[in-house]
Amino acid sequence: MGRPTTPRPPAVPDDLTAADLMSVLPSTADVENGHLWIGGVDMVKLAREQGTALYVMDEASIRQQLRDYVKWTRFHWADVDVVYAGKAFMSLAMLKIVAEEDCCLDVSSGGELAFARRADFPMERIYVHGNNKTDLELAECLDAGVGRIVVDSFEEMERLSAMAEARGTQQRILIRVTPGIEADTHDFIMTGAEDSKFGFGMNEGLAMRAVKRALELPGLDLAGLHMHIGSQIFALQSFTKAIEVIVHFMDAIRDATGWVVRELDTGGGLGIAYGLPDEPSTIKDYGKVIVDGIKEHAETHGLPVPKMAVEPGRSIVANAGVTLYTVGSIKEIPNIRTYVAVDGGMSDNIRTSLYDAHYEALIANKADQPRTMVATIAGKHCESGDIVVTDAPLQDVEVGDIVCVCATGAYCQSMSSNYNKQVRPAVVMVNDGEARVIVRRETYDDLMKCELG
Ligand SMILES: Cc1ncc(COP(=O)(O)O)c(C=O)c1O
Repeated sequence: MGRPTTPRPPAVPDDLTAADLMSVLPSTADVENGHLWIGGVDMVKLAREQGTALYVMDEASIRQQLRDYVKWTRFHWADVDVVYAGKAFMSLAMLKIVAEEDCCLDVSSGGELAFARRADFPMERIYVHGNNKTDLELAECLDAGVGRIVVDSFEEMERLSAMAEARGTQQRILIRVTPGIEADTHDFIMTGAEDSKFGFGMNEGLAMRAVKRALELPGLDLAGLHMHIGSQIFALQSFTKAIEVIVHFMDAIRDATGWVVRELDTGGGLGIAYGLPDEPSTIKDYGKVIVDGIKEHAETHGLPVPKMAVEPGRSIVANAGVTLYTVGSIKEIPNIRTYVAVDGGMSDNIRTSLYDAHYEALIANKADQPRTMVATIAGKHCESGDIVVTDAPLQDVEVGDIVCVCATGAYCQSMSSNYNKQVRPAVVMVNDGEARVIVRRETYDDLMKCELG
């Protein structure tokens, strides 16, 4: 998800080597013998052993991001949940890491909840999202004993209340509100503006009505509010503004009902570096803006400081991941462009077609060489728009080279498809010189496993 927020100059050969691309690569990236290494593992050898296309995730980078979020939010206020947004990248191995790092988990479907259950993720640490949760999904949540359900509509609230009452339980809920903030990001991933399919708008009194109804209904334990203003956000002022609005609303709720918000979840959205010009905010600065911002505004309004939650997805996994491909053909169209075709594409990374996303790329087996040409990395699918990187500076490319596309750890594998009956790539987790297949490559039999003939 997300467009680059920094304007990009026209692509020209930039003579950069992998050593200049460290800001978009996993923190353990290195160059040895002309090859790119991640997590102490040679990417070229790995690609040749495992086959391509291949997703690679660096465990140390993931753990570091989770730890930074815990550290730099709890530094300002002890009671903050760091809730990993599982939609960014979910696998059983990933969920084990999230649980070990003392974090919570955001799930947005019955399928994601099923993963959490299979991974034995502590259910009280689950936050459930979704703008149209089905009865079956709500029942699964209640049966599993999830910690919090973030309610998104009046219909859902009524249904959940009836279901919880019938079970004799009180389900803890948050109400999702849209603070009317236009975050500095792509329209498709901007979710906190008034005109949004998510949550209850504050204008016209919808959010206030939702709070009042939740307080009346049996079976619901209203704990607080949730907002998520968008994704791939660079400007921290967008969060500052949204916090001001939502804490003001908390004050209005107390005035209107006497009830005081106990929990405030500000969603995810911190941007990451996809390209070299990108300079995202640090987790340290983000933690200060969010946590101190809430504290300050709560104090100004004479409200108790609530328990807080943040829900990062992209900023946990995006830069921890790369995708490796093998070059199959090179087409030079004189005076127009050169297409380098790889053995994957929009089935393993839809973001370029969907959001015109930009990535940095390099040739993993020529990592110490300068990027002396510009080529468009195209996929193998039956769509002209099946492009992985448009006009990428690259090392002198040949058939058989291993292309590494950087910062693909978020919203690539999780948004992948079987278009053209392409099998999904394996996911390999690397750490301390070891490579572990955590999701195996699909087979043709997998493609047909739901076929009834
Ligand atoms: C409710 C909610 N929380 C958290 C996230 C994670 O956002 P990001 O990956 O930008 O951190 C999303 C992403 O769409 C979301 O919808």
